[in-house]
Amino acid sequence: MNKTLTGVRVLVTGGSRGIGRATAVSLASAGAKVAFGHHGDDAAAAATLATVQKHDASAFSIEADVSVETEAVDMVHRSIEGLGGLDVVVNNAGILNEAGLLDTTVDAFDTVIAVNLRGTFLVGREAIRHMVQQGGGRVINIASDLGYLGRERNTAYCASKAGIGAMTRTWALEFAPRILVNAVAPGPVDTNMLGAEVMSEAQRQKESDIPLGRIGHPEEIANMVTFLAGPQASFITGQTYGVNGGSVMT
Ligand SMILES: NC(=O)c1ccc[n+]([C@@H]2O[C@H](COP(=O)([O-])OP(=O)(O)OC[C@H]3O[C@@H](n4cnc5c(N)ncnc54)[C@H](O)[C@@H]3O)[C@@H](O)[C@H]2O)c1
Repeated sequence: MNKTLTGVRVLVTGGSRGIGRATAVSLASAGAKVAFGHHGDDAAAAATLATVQKHDASAFSIEADVSVETEAVDMVHRSIEGLGGLDVVVNNAGILNEAGLLDTTVDAFDTVIAVNLRGTFLVGREAIRHMVQQGGGRVINIASDLGYLGRERNTAYCASKAGIGAMTRTWALEFAPRILVNAVAPGPVDTNMLGAEVMSEAQRQKESDIPLGRIGHPEEIANMVTFLAGPQASFITGQTYGVNGGSVMT
């Protein structure tokens, strides 16, 4: 791979597995210096770190719950310290809780919103605080095609992902022209989130019913994130890119 990100300092949240893992590996292989976060996933994080370190020997991981303000802020500070600054933050950590609206408790709703939306807000706010002082940076938020499409039995998830799109546009306006803020909205991707423990068979069937006829690979999302982090994306802000096999067409 071209080393288009040589020396670029990056924090990826939710980097232990799935899309975050592929993103951390892709960014490191493009030359970036990488820190990644994870929560309650030590074994997977250790395996990912070993792979990322093949490209960036100084890469490190941080255990932190992005929904808890002190932990999210501390993770950003430790990243800045360990990387010697922060040029790009990828807000990827997320959870899904499938439940019909009438069975969705306030606790379940709040938990999904806290990780997906508040976590993106907390990490993004702290990263941007640093980027303002530094004089520039990039924020890449991971949304979802379900933020546009809606999906029965996924009230909190869809609301959180639509919120991430709105937050992306808001930050892009507020911090132009020095900080570029974009989102990637994946369609269905082959990760734990699409596994039987998280999603019912009926919902999984829906996920493969898209024009390209298959679900995506985590690396296909990582490619877009790596592009948005790089020099060729210098005139792009406030956008949400669908990488989705055609599940959403705009
Ligand atoms: N897989 C898909 O089909 C799909 C589609 C659209 C969007 N997405 C989004 O992509 C992102 C990554 O999802 P994935 O499919 O790789 O899922 P995954 O379950 O494989 O990985 C989730 C990651 O988030 C981390 N995480 C979970 N809760 C956390 C918390 N409270 N604090 C910090 N980290 C936490 C986990 O440690 C893990 O690294 C999510 O935001 C998800 O909503 C996924």
